[in-house]
Amino acid sequence: MPASLRHLRTLSDPARSSSLSRVAPYPEHDQELPFLQELHGTNKRKTSWRITLKLDRPSPASLVAALLLVVVVVLQLLVYPRLPASFQLFRPAPPPPQPSCPSVPTYNPFVQELYCRAPAHTPGTLYSRSPHSMALAAAAERVAAEFEYPAEQINRAVHEFIREMDEGLETQGATMSQIPTYVTAVPNGTEKGLYMAVDLGGTNFRVCSIQLHGNSTFSLTQSKVKIPHDIMTAKTSHELFSFLAKQIEAFLKTHHEEHYTSHVEKRRRQSYMGKAYHEELEVFSLGFTFSFPVQQSGINKGTLIRWTKGFDIQETIGKDVCALLQKEIDALHLPVRVAALVNDTVGTLMARSYTSPGKTGTLLGAIFGTGTNGAYVEKLSRITKLSKMASKDAGDVDDSTGEMIVNTEWGSFDNHLSVLPVTPYDRSLDAESNNPGIQMFEKRVSGMFLGEILRRAIMDLVRDQSVPLFSDEHSNQNDVHSTTNIHDDSSLYKQWGLDTSFLSIASGDNSVGLKATRQTLDNEYGVSAASAEDAEAVRLIASAIGKRAARLSAVAIAAVVISTGKLGAPKDIATTTTHAGDAEINEDDIVDIGVDGSLVEFYPNFEEYIREALREVPEIGVRGERRIRIGIAKDGSGVGAALIALVADRVGKGPTSPTSPGGAVGGFFQQILEHLNRSVRTRV
Ligand code: BGC
Repeated sequence: MPASLRHLRTLSDPARSSSLSRVAPYPEHDQELPFLQELHGTNKRKTSWRITLKLDRPSPASLVAALLLVVVVVLQLLVYPRLPASFQLFRPAPPPPQPSCPSVPTYNPFVQELYCRAPAHTPGTLYSRSPHSMALAAAAERVAAEFEYPAEQINRAVHEFIREMDEGLETQGATMSQIPTYVTAVPNGTEKGLYMAVDLGGTNFRVCSIQLHGNSTFSLTQSKVKIPHDIMTAKTSHELFSFLAKQIEAFLKTHHEEHYTSHVEKRRRQSYMGKAYHEELEVFSLGFTFSFPVQQSGINKGTLIRWTKGFDIQETIGKDVCALLQKEIDALHLPVRVAALVNDTVGTLMARSYTSPGKTGTLLGAIFGTGTNGAYVEKLSRITKLSKMASKDAGDVDDSTGEMIVNTEWGSFDNHLSVLPVTPYDRSLDAESNNPGIQMFEKRVSGMFLGEILRRAIMDLVRDQSVPLFSDEHSNQNDVHSTTNIHDDSSLYKQWGLDTSFLSIASGDNSVGLKATRQTLDNEYGVSAASAEDAEAVRLIASAIGKRAARLSAVAIAAVVISTGKLGAPKDIATTTTHAGDAEINEDDIVDIGVDGSLVEFYPNFEEYIREALREVPEIGVRGERRIRIGIAKDGSGVGAALIALVADRVGKGPTSPTSPGGAVGGFFQQILEHLNRSVRTRV
């Protein structure tokens, strides 16, 4: 009988199987498959080994083996703590899980976790057992739960994000703009020179000069001015850009007086002596960080697509913003040439690459501040729309590195709301904004909007008669014993009246009885004598909004990391272990990300929440998440703009153009540029 048939019969024959359990003689099983022999305990080799141990007198070889085993075990016990983990036979038990908060009054794990993360006092205990207090707790938990953003939704969003990224690389005018920046190299820290940069993109306008030292360090001098609201929504571009030029003038007079006066003097001589007189003017190259969606057609050319973050000057849309700024600079006769147009994310990417430790280039620069956006290094061959663009829209592409930085403009991800979470507060915020239906991702993630989401959630509760928020009746822990009251002129009643920094204050409040939150409510928002319970409720909702923003941020980061294939096979398996299971990642396997913005900088646990969500994405997982290094690129946009101005100089100035006021340029400058091009590190 063929072995396979016999085998089949053996399996289906109950009599035979019962005899097997009584240890059948070998010949019966000679033709069984090996795995069945194992299963039946009749594998010859295994059996004979057992018998040898039990019955035979130990041979000298087995005695030596046993002795060796004992020595190894004793050694392990003695020198165990000093051994590198890869030599340890017995790994220490993983740390016990964090005890869950015993007194948390909720069954929703998302809400429970929010209570547990809150520091200091035992969270949830500021509520009392009174019906009012319990009603407040229940209402706060219901609202907090509306911001829950579970793993399966994250994963759906990551896939949609990747789809929209691909679409943006192929077509003009897609939801996610995927704007080619014409920046084809990232720096490596050896660049030198003195450059200027200005930064327009949010609440403030910054002017700075940056001395690049060439050793990954730089010195920065800067001035900052708040942009008046009427300028943000002015009628004409002139109002905004002349305001910017005046700030540049003031900066030069204050911080580069000598250079400024010598320039004025030279110009005076020139106009006195006439055209025949030639004296070279020393002109600063300026990187213009302009953090709005711009259709770039060259390194210092780009037309505004739309305003975001509360700016609204219709006349500027469709105009070249570099030309607008240069016109106003020239009107003031300043020694400044707008050499590069830079999105803040591109600047962040450049700056992080200049300063980041080790030799790994940076993949992504991301902003989580007033607005949100990311720029990353993409393969030129994947930006297929470049070849389809009309020549008026497409600039010259330097293809020497085969890569280009792409500004995603991810703030407009999923404007059609196919995967983004939607609460009633998101809906009303959008409907009453000056750009409904646009920047839907940004409206859930960035600092411009989170405060307003919280304000809407709080005011809904305040208006709900059944919820005793900021109402005196339940203020049993109101230590000033006065009536809780929202003043009539409280900014809580006004659109944009609650600053996002309040979310950071409330979520990170570890003062007794949440005093910091209550004081801020009192001092800044006209809520006098809020109780500890009020603060507890407000904090719970604030934390839920912040956590959702961080988890959404993880969607964008995960999508970029996955779509660029940067987590492909690790070049080497991690070898060194620092402590329990915490293996170090090889430098070559690190995926470096530079971030900037008030949320990542100040919101408690923002990065931790991002990392948690990254681990929930199967294509990244625990191992992939550990290969992702996230580093703050503080003031990145300024330094980055200077670095791009440096690159742009080669194109704009040429050998006969005015020298940079950095002085030590000229031939050396050319050398640096060549070096920069040779040593590009875009191949992250
Ligand atoms: C703008 C982006 C910018 C981001 C962060 C968004 O509103 O559209 O261009 O990078 O804010 O400042």
